[in-house]
This record gives sequence, C-alpha cells and structure tokens, in this order.
Amino acid sequence: MCGIVGYIGNDNSIPILLEGLKRLEYRGYDSAGISYIKDGIGEVIKRQGKVSALTEAVERENISAPIGIGHTRWATHGVPNEINAHPHYNREKSLFLIHNGIIENYLSIKAGLVKEGYEFFTDTDTEVLVNLIDRYIKKKNLSLFQAVRYALNEVEGTYGIAVLSIAEPDKIVVAKNGSPLVIGIGDQENFIASDVNALVSHTKQVVYLEDNEMAVIYKDRFVAKTISDERIEKEIHEITVDADEITKGGFPHFMLKEIMEQPESVRNSMRGRLILDEGLIKLGGLLGYEQRIANSNRIIISACGTSWHAALVAEYMIEEFCGIPVEVEYASEFRYRHPVIRKDDTIIFISQSGETLDTLAALKEAKRRGALVMGVCNVVGSSIARASETGVYIHAGPEIGVASTKAFTSQLIVMALITVLIARNRQMSQIEGVELTKAISELPEKIQEILELNDQIEKIAEVYKNASNFLYLGRGYNFPVALEGALKLKEISYIHAEGYPAAEMKHGPIALIDDNMPAVFVAPNDPTYEKIISNIMEVKARNGKVIAIACNGDSKIDDMVDHVIKIPTTHRMLTPILTVIPLQLLAYHIAVKKGLNVDQPRNLAKSVTVE
Ligand code: M6R
Repeated sequence: MCGIVGYIGNDNSIPILLEGLKRLEYRGYDSAGISYIKDGIGEVIKRQGKVSALTEAVERENISAPIGIGHTRWATHGVPNEINAHPHYNREKSLFLIHNGIIENYLSIKAGLVKEGYEFFTDTDTEVLVNLIDRYIKKKNLSLFQAVRYALNEVEGTYGIAVLSIAEPDKIVVAKNGSPLVIGIGDQENFIASDVNALVSHTKQVVYLEDNEMAVIYKDRFVAKTISDERIEKEIHEITVDADEITKGGFPHFMLKEIMEQPESVRNSMRGRLILDEGLIKLGGLLGYEQRIANSNRIIISACGTSWHAALVAEYMIEEFCGIPVEVEYASEFRYRHPVIRKDDTIIFISQSGETLDTLAALKEAKRRGALVMGVCNVVGSSIARASETGVYIHAGPEIGVASTKAFTSQLIVMALITVLIARNRQMSQIEGVELTKAISELPEKIQEILELNDQIEKIAEVYKNASNFLYLGRGYNFPVALEGALKLKEISYIHAEGYPAAEMKHGPIALIDDNMPAVFVAPNDPTYEKIISNIMEVKARNGKVIAIACNGDSKIDDMVDHVIKIPTTHRMLTPILTVIPLQLLAYHIAVKKGLNVDQPRNLAKSVTVE
C-alpha cells in the first residue's frame, strides 16, 4: 500500500512524478504529495484525496525542478488528511521523506526525540523517521546516506523510503525492507518507484532492491549497499510491460477493461505451455522440480483475498486429479499459527501483485522450514516471485482495477496446468491428459461467448442494484466461485454479500431468505447439479429471488429461477474459469449503477503491503 516515485535528471521532475503517482494510485488514494528541490530550496505540495487534486494544485504553480519525490497514500497511522499526507519533513524543511510501510516502534523513537526537543505535527509513523534522520545528521555530522542508514538500524517494521536533502541536492537516498522498491535506469536520469508501472514510459531497465538494501541515486549512476554499509553489485533487468497496457484503452474503467481482456489474458497464461497431442504440460519455471512436486506428501497453498479463492479451487483440482492431500491457508494465519511444515511438503503461494506482505512473510517462513516454495504470481520480478525457489508466472498482464478479475481466471488456468503436470507425473492417463489440455485450450472462445452476455447481465444489475444483501451459493469446484462473487460485489458496491457452499445454507443462512434477498446460484452441469437444484427450490419455497449461472442447453432451470445466465459447458474442473465471469460483470454493473468508483473502492488498495 502507498506508492512512491522519484526522479533525478536533466528534465523537469514534476510531470514525471505526477504521471508516476497516477500509475501507482491503485496502491492507495487517500492523499498525495510531492517535494522537490529547486535552486537550493525544498518545497512540498500535498493534497487530501486523489492524485488529481494534487495535480490540479501543482499545475497551478508551473514548477520546474530536476529532482523530486512523490507519494500516494493508503492511510495506516493517522487519518487521511493533508497534514498526514507524505512527504514528511524536518522542522527546517531541509529533509523530505516518503514512506511505504509501517514503522512499528515509532512511539518509542518519538518519545526519545521529544525529550531532545523535537516537535511533531502529524499522527504518522513516518514523521518520526525523518526527524530521526535529521537527528543523526545534526548530532553525528553524518552524510544523508549514513544518517538514513543509522536511523534505519533503529527502526522495526517495513519500509520502502526515498529521502531528499537540500544539503545534498544531487542525490535521492532509498532503502527497502518489506515494501517494494525499483530503480529505473535512464540516460543521464534515474527513477525510483514502488513498481515498474510507474516507470514504463521512461525506461525498460530496472534494478530491484532487496530487503535491507539501500541505494544512493544520482542522475548518472547509482550506488547500492546493504544496510550494514557493504557495497553490492545489482543486476539490471529488462522489463516487458508496455505503456499502453496500463491505460484504460477506451473503457470507462480498468475493471471492465480487465474483465473484457480475459479471452486474451487466459490465452497468454496457457501460451506455449500445452502439449495437446500428448496431454502434457510444459512449465519452464518448474523445470527440474516436477518430480519433487509430484512426490510431495502434501501440498499447501497459501494466499489472500481473491488469490485465496483461486487456491481453494486448486485444492479441488489437485486432490481429485493428483491424489495429493492439499491444505489451503490464509497467508496471514499461516505465518502466525505455528503450522506443521515438513521437508517433503510443497507450498504454493499465489499472489497477483507478488507483494502482499502476509503472503511474502508466510513464504519466507515456509522456506526457512525447508519446504519447497513455489510462487504463482502475475507481476514479473515481484518480491514473492523473487523469493520463491521455483514458480510460474500467470502472464495476465498488468491488473490495475483494485478488484481482481483477469488475474483470478489466469491463476485458475495456471493451477489447472500445474494440476495436469503433477497428475501426468502420477496416475493421470494420456487420454485424460489430452481431454483436459484440449478443454483448457478451448476456454478463451468460451469466455468470449460469456462476455457477449454483458447487456443481459447489466439488465439484471438494474433490478438488484438497491438490494442490501446478497447470498452467493455454489458447490464443489464452484463453492470458491460463490466466495469470489460475493467478494467482488462487496468490495466495489459496498453491498453486504456472503458466499456459502450451497448445502450449508440450511444450517443457518436460509434464515436470511425473504422476498428481498437475491441469491446467486452457481449451477453448471457437473456432478453437484441435482443437489444445487434442490437448494434453489429451498430458496424459491421461501420467496427468495434467484439468479442462476447455468450451462447452455439446461432448460430445466429456466422455470425455477428469476434470472438465468447461460454459459458454455466445459470440463468440470475448469467450470470456475467460466462461471466467475458473469459474477464479475454483475458486481461491476451494480457498482457503476450505484455511482461508485469501481477502480478505487473506498478503504482498499490493490497491493496490501501492510499486515
Ligand atoms: O496481490 P495479491 O493477489 O496477493 O492480493 C491479494 C488480495 O489482496 C486481493 O486478491 C484482494 O482481495 C482483491 N482486492 C480482490 O479483488
């Protein structure tokens, strides 16, 4: 959470910072600010709210400065107002700092600084850090780099920071621990950012800082060191994201664009990985690990949010086709509950961003305990991808909308590929492998067919946009889809929604059913179909409204429900990749009709880099 950006070079930093902040806004949008040094004077401009409010304020000033830093905030310590907005600075306004993360011991550091006469004006943890750096500069007469280093050695918590000093206006000092930080390498100019999206229009060459690393960024070079002051050589990576991949491309919202991109994004997830005539799977990232994975005694899959729902679907897939016991864990619980981890376990961490702090921390713990650690990530070069021993990229392309859509379907594709790969190394026959790989390859066209139902789904959204509660029900492979449908609706429309295994309804949630309660049933043609029909009848008997997702050719369901959205059939294991799409569209249209900001829903951020 929070996005940070910085520039040093011969150009004007201001438009570069504002553009970078716009690109990072999905990481937080409570407030935004920049600071820059011009003619030996440091200035700060901050605004509460979105980057657009800051842009308006900055553009009125017509500023040009060759060095600057910027921040877009997701509030942790202190309400989202202008005072608490970053950058923070010292009393003399000679030091400026932006921070993504949390300084956990800020209260004790603050108490020490107050005793020494420091004053604080914000409720943030970050203001403590900038004053601690100031203290080291003044008391020990240290350079900016050394003062930052000394200060960070006192700090507990997570940070990606960038610091400017008017005394050393030729550099930006950056450091990372737990929050991402990327350096963009240009020609007589350099950049820093929380992720590569902010850099793609300027450079394709990037350097990823690792935890406990720092760097001094000059316009024509950078020097990287550890927090213990040891010099390190960093590898320069070439990024492949294009600037036009991170625009709305004519769609009113990123979320709609990303939903509509799914035929292509799932195609990219499977591209070059299916060997159709042999029913085999090739995953370059797992090369050399296939046997170890296939011989695992247990697979644990850990993730958060939508990625956790993908993990639940994968549990059904792997247990059915590979015969390996699977456990699915919320990363936040896994890391703290002393899980039993064995060396012959494979632990898969699923994360779109690859930066989710709980997932990353769980991964590090699993690795420390000797299990094989696999990452399934979207963002190339992300922290989880880099920390994994082995892994698979989902290649969904940049996902900017806070509500995850195309990443979910691509995660499911990759988990289906992993399932077939393991299963073919165990008991799955070639015939079954061929059947499954063929079914996977046919998914993009089927998704396209579902997207053509957009108008029908929009009309259903119109009917239910004022509902205050929703139930989502599914069984088997589609129970996690019910959870995902409910999550999509609540996060962008603020309507209370619950997902349940349909059979659990009679153990409690059925009490909620009345003629105002819409229940969305996920009812494809699979072995649970007849049971789901009984559950639908139970809701109808209590006057509930039913929206069903069913398969083409299912005419039986038509008279039983209020609305039915018909989708193509596929292999039972793959149905979630299709059934979720109408639910994404339903949530999207309801939120739009309620006049809400679907790409930046309140209180949320795309990348959750705090606990
Ligand atoms: O980047 P990750 O996949 O690790 O993110 C996990 C969750 O924060 C994320 O899926 C979140 O639940 C989304 N807002 C759901 O739409």
